Amino acid sequence: MNENQSGPKHIAVIMDGNGRWANARGLPRKAGHRAGAEAVREAVEICQDLNIDYLTLYAFSSENWDRPEDEVKALMKLLERFLKTKAREIAKKNVRLRAIGRLHLLPDHVRVELDRVIEDTQHNNGLTLVLALSYGSREEIVDATKSLAQKITRQEITPDEITNETIAEHLYTSDLPDPDLLIRTSGELRLSNFLLWQLSYAEIFISQKNWPDFRKADFEEAIQEFTRRNRRFGRV
Ligand code: FPP
Repeated sequence: MNENQSGPKHIAVIMDGNGRWANARGLPRKAGHRAGAEAVREAVEICQDLNIDYLTLYAFSSENWDRPEDEVKALMKLLERFLKTKAREIAKKNVRLRAIGRLHLLPDHVRVELDRVIEDTQHNNGLTLVLALSYGSREEIVDATKSLAQKITRQEITPDEITNETIAEHLYTSDLPDPDLLIRTSGELRLSNFLLWQLSYAEIFISQKNWPDFRKADFEEAIQEFTRRNRRFGRV
């Protein structure tokens, strides 16, 4: 297979470095998250301009619940505000919002807004923005395994009938294509429990920039790098 002729259709992003961005400016971590939320709004516009079909953002991980209570509260408040204001704005631009994760763990004030925006945008057919919230890939695999085990108990399927496709169909992402490109900001070289199954064949782009500084030129650079890569999917 030759170089990727076309660009990625689905980009996933680990938005790291909000805290470091704030630290470098002598600001509280909350200010970094606020700048991160603004970068999210910009990223949506950029990906629309660049003809990306799906953008999945790691906005709050299962592990993030263990951060100090006031930081968790600030992130939830920020998410609520984002959904009330910026998400409405992007909804008008034909963006469809989706969310993946253990969403029932989110506080009610976030759940209400999230459900509302998802419902309001369900018929949009532009960019699909997927927010990973209270998301952990191992937790997702546990949830999928439980639901498969229940189907086996009810004799709806047999263990022998389980294939890669069956597992994929039981993940939160069952109706989404796998990401082609993973971007991680702030230079860390980890997957951090993000889409472990779905990223099996994704190309990985690491940026040294903190998330609030990751702009259009950086998305373009990541996409250009992607198109130069030779994706073999395990073949020669
Ligand atoms: C990582 O930075 C970022 C997060 C834990 C949360 C990501 C949240 C946002 C970008 C803002 C809110 C999102 C939406 C969709 C409104 P960090 O705090 O781990 O940074 P550090 O590693 O430098 O400390």
